Amino acid sequence: MINQYNVLSLFDGMSCGQLALHKAGLTDFNYLASEIDKFAIQITQSNYPNTVQLGDVHNISAKDLPRINLLLGGSPCQNLSQTTINNIKHNQGLQGDKSKLFYEFLRILSETKPEHFLFENVASMTNANRDLISHALECDPIRINSNLVSAQDRDRYYWTNIEVAAPPADQGIILNDIIEENPASKYWYAQTFDYLGDNEKVQASLHIHGHDILKRVYNLNGKVGTLTCLKGGNHQKKVFQNGTPRKLTPLEYERLQNVPDGYTLGVSDTQRYNMLGNGWTIDVIAHILQGLAK
Ligand SMILES: C[S@@+](CC[C@H](N)C(=O)[O-])C[C@H]1O[C@@H](n2cnc3c(N)ncnc32)[C@H](O)[C@@H]1O
Repeated sequence: MINQYNVLSLFDGMSCGQLALHKAGLTDFNYLASEIDKFAIQITQSNYPNTVQLGDVHNISAKDLPRINLLLGGSPCQNLSQTTINNIKHNQGLQGDKSKLFYEFLRILSETKPEHFLFENVASMTNANRDLISHALECDPIRINSNLVSAQDRDRYYWTNIEVAAPPADQGIILNDIIEENPASKYWYAQTFDYLGDNEKVQASLHIHGHDILKRVYNLNGKVGTLTCLKGGNHQKKVFQNGTPRKLTPLEYERLQNVPDGYTLGVSDTQRYNMLGNGWTIDVIAHILQGLAK
């Protein structure tokens, strides 16, 4: 790759974009990031100290930047995602206080005019919101479920002008392939549960308060539901191991996003779960970015 290849990553989180570039075999680039979460920034800087942090996306202007070759971004999805879409407080689509940040991506895309861009968001958005984004970005999204390269269901839209031939091949990974053998006692539940069956994707229903999704205990012979950031107690995804329900560990969250073991070490478990739930599945992004290497 030529020198001075500049990547600008908006809503960079813990820099999954940077992990994916390396995984795609692209290593010679300057990486500029816009992020406001201090824990995510801490993890990025401890893994990639040369990252240039630009702060709040609202304060970024092309006139202060070098020529940008690649623009990346997955803006917050809280007002678009199915899990919140029926809640009147959140059901504001692209006008919602979080999801309207898409328009900052659009502004910076039009100011910087990069050769390539990649924009990611949830596939559970309404068709109307999807079409608004497609119209603005002048392309249709590719739909990829991370379960092709991971033991996690994560259905996402990717809008890009990078040439992507086909989705990644299905690697057939299940939870049993990525779990820790002996997680610490703090991850195990003492609560009772309803057993739902040996061959059920959700093998047990845990007796805890809250939404049904929180009660799901996944079968190790299958895939887990989409990792999300934690919005309260007991939000971590759960699995049924040795006859007992337990939470997945932060290390297992890393593996479910194809993030290297220990990448998010250095902050609390809560922060690790949050940034991994917010993050990208590395092998999906690397698959798309491989189109740049051609
Ligand atoms: C869905 S996450 C994206 C995570 C990212 N793709 C990654 O690889 O980890 C959205 C991110 O946008 C960040 N964010 C929210 N408001 C922002 C703002 N005004 N400027 C920059 N980043 C912001 C959040 O802190 C969060 O990390």
